[in-house]
Amino acid sequence: MSSLSTRHLIGIKNITEADIQLIFETADNFKEVINRPIKKVPSLRDLTVANIFFESSTRTRISFELAERRLSADIVNFAAASSSVSKGETLLDTVNNILAMKVDMVVMRHPAPGACVFLSQHIPANVINAGDGTHEHPTQALLDAYSIREQLGDVANKKIAIIGDILHSRVALSNVFCLQKLGAKVRVCGPPTLIPKYYADLGVEVSHDVQETLHWCDVANVLRIQLERQDIKYFPSLREYHQFFGITKNRIEQLDKEIVIMHPGPINRGVEISSDVADAPQSIILQQVENGVAIRMAVLYLLASGK
Ligand code: CP
Repeated sequence: MSSLSTRHLIGIKNITEADIQLIFETADNFKEVINRPIKKVPSLRDLTVANIFFESSTRTRISFELAERRLSADIVNFAAASSSVSKGETLLDTVNNILAMKVDMVVMRHPAPGACVFLSQHIPANVINAGDGTHEHPTQALLDAYSIREQLGDVANKKIAIIGDILHSRVALSNVFCLQKLGAKVRVCGPPTLIPKYYADLGVEVSHDVQETLHWCDVANVLRIQLERQDIKYFPSLREYHQFFGITKNRIEQLDKEIVIMHPGPINRGVEISSDVADAPQSIILQQVENGVAIRMAVLYLLASGK
């Protein structure tokens, strides 16, 4: 197979294992390209991509922009805070005005779950979800699984723990779909208030015991406590969260094996993870960021090839 089963990348739920494997194989080639002295290829030379961000981002926004530049695409960057959205313009009007300027692909981050699927139903351009509220963040899950494959040789049958604020995380949901499609054993771990009940129905293990989970897993993907999405208190204090659920050097030193440490960023150092673990040799946090460019190049290239 040499093309994706979809015109848009809205979520991992709606793509196949074959799609994921094709993205990984394509990313392998692009990873080699971006490590060359001349990092650019002409693959998207005649295409224009709009990066539309209605929420703040560091990694995803820069990573998509670099991926597009490496593929020689023309780029339009749009930040909602400095746009006519603040004057009351709707999402569809905003995007249709951008498309009137002949844009071929839209990369969008939006606080509303479902915003990207709505957009894909109303515009002719390919849509890539760069994170829609608490729903999905598909390219993050792809780069996470790709980094596990790179580190451990394969994802199938590996034990992956996703630890932290599962309730507010789009990364958790996309990771569960992606890792399960690739045959991993997945567990979520955190306080009961931060794990939605429906996770048990997704076929993942649910645990509230962080030390036992660290003993169980090959990889711990640690998630940020998303205070900005928390309208009520889900735990007494950040200090108490760190004490009971924080990934610390002391917890890691109690293990009889070395596990891989991951975090999608941004990190709250001293809350969900201590600095000595985030910066330890077994942490692959910066490799995840590096792999993000190759994965996004692969997604852009494959969606453009299907046109
Ligand atoms: N991991 C991630 O989505 O980071 P940003 O919010 O900085 O893009």
